Amino acid sequence: MDNKKIALITGSTDGIGKATALKLLKEGWEVVINGRNASKCEPTINELKQKSGSNNVTAFIADLANLSQVKSATEKFLETNSRLDLLMLNANSIANDRIVTAEGNEQNFALGYISRVLMIKMLEKVLENTTNSQILSVIGMDTQPLDFNDPTIKNNFTGRKGLGRWQWAMNLYATEYNRTSKVPLNLYMPGLVKTKVLANEPQPMRAFVKLMNILMGITTEQSAENIFIVLNDIVSNKKKGTCYSWKKERGLPKIKTTEGDNVKLLKLTNDLLQKYL
Ligand SMILES: NC(=O)c1ccc[n+]([C@@H]2O[C@H](COP(=O)([O-])OP(=O)(O)OC[C@H]3O[C@@H](n4cnc5c(N)ncnc54)[C@H](OP(=O)(O)O)[C@@H]3O)[C@@H](O)[C@H]2O)c1
Repeated sequence: MDNKKIALITGSTDGIGKATALKLLKEGWEVVINGRNASKCEPTINELKQKSGSNNVTAFIADLANLSQVKSATEKFLETNSRLDLLMLNANSIANDRIVTAEGNEQNFALGYISRVLMIKMLEKVLENTTNSQILSVIGMDTQPLDFNDPTIKNNFTGRKGLGRWQWAMNLYATEYNRTSKVPLNLYMPGLVKTKVLANEPQPMRAFVKLMNILMGITTEQSAENIFIVLNDIVSNKKKGTCYSWKKERGLPKIKTTEGDNVKLLKLTNDLLQKYL
């Protein structure tokens, strides 16, 4: 039996995801990368093979803002994989204009939150059947409570709101999920990493973040080294429901909640995912 550990890393045609894929390949893992188009996945796979000297890399092609694509790519993954050691939910790109997807979801929320929960739910069994498996959800610091009366942000949309709301939902979902799950779901804040995602930071933060990134940003390779340390710490110390920043545990960020938000979020999530599960 092949004992290679398997990682599925979303958003791994660039940035932190790609660097982590390379690190894991070098460490002897099998890696499934994800990108939204085949034309970017193919050269990424070739580059990873060449840099790592390993051929154990394949692609999971799906635009993760589209839940039908998430569903069919995940089903395909399950047809050929009976083990999953790491589900790293990492993909993001900030939509600064209000986009409602063809499936009716606000784009930031679909990509950052709903698709992640859909993957968790669809992959839960295979994760449960893999010893010491884990889910790591990559996230930023900004959080803003969801307006349950306006989930697609019809009123006063800003990119910051879009970003803050999915990150708020992910925080709250992680707490709820870990209450009963067999597999640990931890959050990961990479700090400032020199990638293209920051170029799209909503204003007024963009200029500030750009400057800070020049002064303090770390490379994607350094970030991947940090993540590798964190992944091992989670397994060795059986960590569950916490948040790491860089390579250290910092505990879950405090988010603003009102009584009943957890129930409302789980209901909204189930309603949105109903037809995909
Ligand atoms: N960099 C930082 O300082 C920083 C700070 C805090 C949090 N984060 C978080 O870290 C994670 C990784 O970001 P990064 O900095 O590495 O950004 P990045 O270099 O822009 O990489 C993002 C990855 O996500 C993919 N992606 C974007 N939209 C997608 C979609 N709809 N479907 C599938 N894949 C999609 C991108 O694919 P394409 O190549 O096709 O664009 C790319 O591979 C994100 O969750 C980000 O919010 C980053």
